[in-house]
Amino acid sequence: MTETIESLLKEQEEFRPPEEFVKNANMNDPHIYEKAEADIEGFWEGLAENIDWFKKWDTVLDWQPPHAKWFNGGKLNASYNCLDRHVLKHGDKTALIWEGEMENSETYTYKELRDATARFAAGLKDLGVKKGDVVTIYLPMIPEAVIAMLACARIGAPHSVVFAGFSSEALAQRVEDAQSRFVITCNGYFHKGNLIHQKERADKGLENAPAVEKVIVVDHAANVIPMKEERDVWWKDVIHNMDSECEPEPMDSEDILFIMYTSGTTGRPKGVVHTTGGYMVGTHVTSNWIFDLKDDDIFWCTADIGWITGHSYLVYGPLSNGATIVMHEGAPDYPDKGRFWDIVEKYGVTIFYTAPTAIRTFMKWGEDIPEKYDLSSLRLLGSVGEPINPKAWLWYYEIIGKSKCPIVDTWWQTETGMIMISPLPGITTMRPGTATHPFPGIKANILDDEGNEVPIGSGGYLALQNPWPSMIRTINGDEQRFIDTYWSKWGTDTYLAGDGARKDEKGNFWILGRLDDVIKVSGHRLGTMEIESALVSHPSVAEAAVDGKVDEIKGEVIYAYVILESSCGDSCSLLEDELKQHVVDEIGPIARPKKIIFTEELPKTRSGKIMRRVLKAITNGTEIGDISTLQDPAVVEALKRKVNEIG
Ligand code: WT7
Repeated sequence: MTETIESLLKEQEEFRPPEEFVKNANMNDPHIYEKAEADIEGFWEGLAENIDWFKKWDTVLDWQPPHAKWFNGGKLNASYNCLDRHVLKHGDKTALIWEGEMENSETYTYKELRDATARFAAGLKDLGVKKGDVVTIYLPMIPEAVIAMLACARIGAPHSVVFAGFSSEALAQRVEDAQSRFVITCNGYFHKGNLIHQKERADKGLENAPAVEKVIVVDHAANVIPMKEERDVWWKDVIHNMDSECEPEPMDSEDILFIMYTSGTTGRPKGVVHTTGGYMVGTHVTSNWIFDLKDDDIFWCTADIGWITGHSYLVYGPLSNGATIVMHEGAPDYPDKGRFWDIVEKYGVTIFYTAPTAIRTFMKWGEDIPEKYDLSSLRLLGSVGEPINPKAWLWYYEIIGKSKCPIVDTWWQTETGMIMISPLPGITTMRPGTATHPFPGIKANILDDEGNEVPIGSGGYLALQNPWPSMIRTINGDEQRFIDTYWSKWGTDTYLAGDGARKDEKGNFWILGRLDDVIKVSGHRLGTMEIESALVSHPSVAEAAVDGKVDEIKGEVIYAYVILESSCGDSCSLLEDELKQHVVDEIGPIARPKKIIFTEELPKTRSGKIMRRVLKAITNGTEIGDISTLQDPAVVEALKRKVNEIG
């Protein structure tokens, strides 16, 4: 197989979507790019017609860089757009297929999902949740997570979903930052057959968040848990006696729909703020054109609702299109390594969206696993989260897609809200390894430090030069950080994405990875400083520097360089384990360092700043370059030796 892939790579670098696909695609007009560019506001305004508004907007765009207001004056409700308007047409259509870890499942029609959402929304109101109150959702991949998000949207309470795998501390930090007085969690859930005590974890975190008034608890795993009197209430009691007639609140287009925390270059995560109208327009059209959603599609996005991909392409985008979505609680290798393909076969999944790290893992497990299943229902595949290497792309194309499914490699970010660079499967010639072209109406470019476009083929900073409807509006409670992070490198009208990229002669964008202190482990976004702060919060650690090492499966793994308060003598390996666990306790298992390297010195400039570039070269065994500005150049050799030793 590998041989075939390599020869394919050489012979055929471009792939056309099948003619049939092109003919029937939702968007197959190659002139759409020019048309959008000729009148960008008109383009987005036309697309806004696909959303139901209680009142139309006064202006399409009010752009006072870096502040955009989209469809200002318009009134709408996201839950109405995802539910009620479909119930009017086809209430019996399946909206959500949930597949549990234990191979149990549940389905909801649009009518059932609308009713469940409205009932819970009424319950939230009854508990005292008001328009504008931030509700934190700390739930795993269960239907109640989707219902909770849409119920918040229904009553105008912004949600903040915290990934269920995050630690107590991470939860507390996010609850505090959002000044959230309401939290929704569950007693427990299963992960690879083990019971995870979610409520216990929530309780521990909430000890440090005294402002929380109510905790709503879903009984998911039937495990017995203590309920705190006055504060805790069961989900079933919240909906008890509520009818399903909770009217959707008419929201201003620019009212906040949700906050999503993500990692940045400082220790504190950023609360990315998304508003209602523009976000709905952006996620609706990208779902429609990029995933080519049709009435009979079964769309499975494997992302967790704790990440932006789960928000935009598990919930809001597909449901606003009236699609049938699959939601899976559990892991790709439980109960066995064929689990994903089993689900594809079981439900006849037609569109499948996952991350390169998963594809590389499947590749490692071997093609004989997917080959045991009937994958013939698939017609389109997607990739997101990190660059997909051509080898993995081809494996995905051949083994999963049987060489008939176009692949959409979609580049975007928590901040962009919607996919920004991707093939349109009814138009674009695909090339393994590139996300190809900016979506119509999006102006992306590769710039140098001065803001000039770099020559074709050269690397530079990926920048976005037009506002777009689902763009980040601010960082919760930190407007200055919003401006400094994204809009100050060249001027307040150009967005700095944080990725390096290059453009080829055909206008394809090749994403090269992050240029800042953000690392991507299995597609999960982590800040080096965030992990460093976790490490230094351990009493034995004096200083820490964290770096990403390139990894064949995970994209990157975490290497942590640690200076101790005092030597670990012969208990170094014990301490190494303890520190790894400490990071897990502080952030979550996704942040567990792969290696901890004890050292006496770090590569620092004379002013005491860690030289990340030098550290990166040490970690990855690449060319070190100029080290004349280092305080002590000898550190480099010493560290290189240590990294070499651990292999
Ligand atoms: C970062 C954003 C938004 C989806 C999930 C990640 C990297 C994302 C791609 C891609 C190369 C990609 C970038 C980006 N990234 N998609 N198709 N090709 N890199 O969202 O956690 O906000 O991370 O993910 O580095 O900046 P996120």
